[in-house]
Amino acid sequence: MKKILLSGATGMVGRKLSRKLYERGYQVEVLVRHKKEKTDFKSYLWDYKARFLEADALDNTYIFIHLAGATISKRWTDSYKKEIYSSRVDSAQFIFDEMKNHQIHPEAFISASASGYYGQVTSEHIFTETDKPGKDFLGTVCEAWEKKAFQFKELGSRVVCIRTATVLSGKGGALETLRKPIDMGLGAPLGTGKQYFPWIHEDDLVNIYLKAVEDASMEGSYNASAPEYINNEVFTKKLAAHLGKTIFLPNIPQLFIKAILGEMSLLALQGSRLSSEKIEKAGFNFAYKTLDSALADVL
Ligand SMILES: NC(=O)c1ccc[n+]([C@@H]2O[C@H](COP(=O)([O-])OP(=O)(O)OC[C@H]3O[C@@H](n4cnc5c(N)ncnc54)[C@H](OP(=O)(O)O)[C@@H]3O)[C@@H](O)[C@H]2O)c1
Repeated sequence: MKKILLSGATGMVGRKLSRKLYERGYQVEVLVRHKKEKTDFKSYLWDYKARFLEADALDNTYIFIHLAGATISKRWTDSYKKEIYSSRVDSAQFIFDEMKNHQIHPEAFISASASGYYGQVTSEHIFTETDKPGKDFLGTVCEAWEKKAFQFKELGSRVVCIRTATVLSGKGGALETLRKPIDMGLGAPLGTGKQYFPWIHEDDLVNIYLKAVEDASMEGSYNASAPEYINNEVFTKKLAAHLGKTIFLPNIPQLFIKAILGEMSLLALQGSRLSSEKIEKAGFNFAYKTLDSALADVL
């Protein structure tokens, strides 16, 4: 059996992906920061900050999938921004160093990346994979994250980075937060409401990772964002309709959101469209092409 080793496997995406890989017949093993973390698979402790990795963790790794990363949905203080960065970038460097030292040469290194690669801006431009990274915080994080991933080419590995839009899941993630005010009857579009909201259904994302594992022609960075473009106002109204609620309040002013969330308010107030053409041309078919179909499923 081919061994797939994952970091961040206890997260929202990792839990679903590791199960799916197991069902496909792979030997799934995971890196965890605490042994108390509940996982169905053989697990090894790691601490990239202390440069610790449990013995034998990397042995026979066919593919490494790097999902680890501190959540971005927590106030971006200076010290927390460092955590967001290092949990993705320094951790990837640590895995690279360990593999190099132990002469492990995986067939592929597949890494999460994010739609934030292009910068958190609202524009009419539809971002494709050849566009440059943004200069803001998340753009800088994603650029460094992908740079570390591409370093694995030195080990002879195929490298794939998945520039992920907001993942819609029935359990956890952004949807849980976004639906709260609507559930209480207090939902409203944010700021102008015109900012785009790139999204993807969790099953589509898991299937993109699976394709990246099994399709050796996949190499480089790919946007993982559904083909239907939705802005914040439309998203809010559709989400409310699926929850059986009506939006009657006026848009929440930008200034108010900025005062509450600080720099992190960019996540709520800005957004552009991401092209899904590259992954579709690679042969991927989205099961959830429209927001209505995705919401009907996850809710
Ligand atoms: N969900 C989304 O909407 C979305 C959108 C764009 C990009 N992404 C990216 O896709 C990846 C997976 O997303 P997800 O939603 O599954 O994330 P998640 O639920 O937040 O899980 C991430 C995992 O990373 C590990 N982790 C958390 N904090 C860490 C830290 N400080 N240092 C090292 N590891 C840490 C944890 O695993 P252990 O406790 O087992 O170590 C955690 O389960 C992440 O890198 C995320 O940035 C997600």
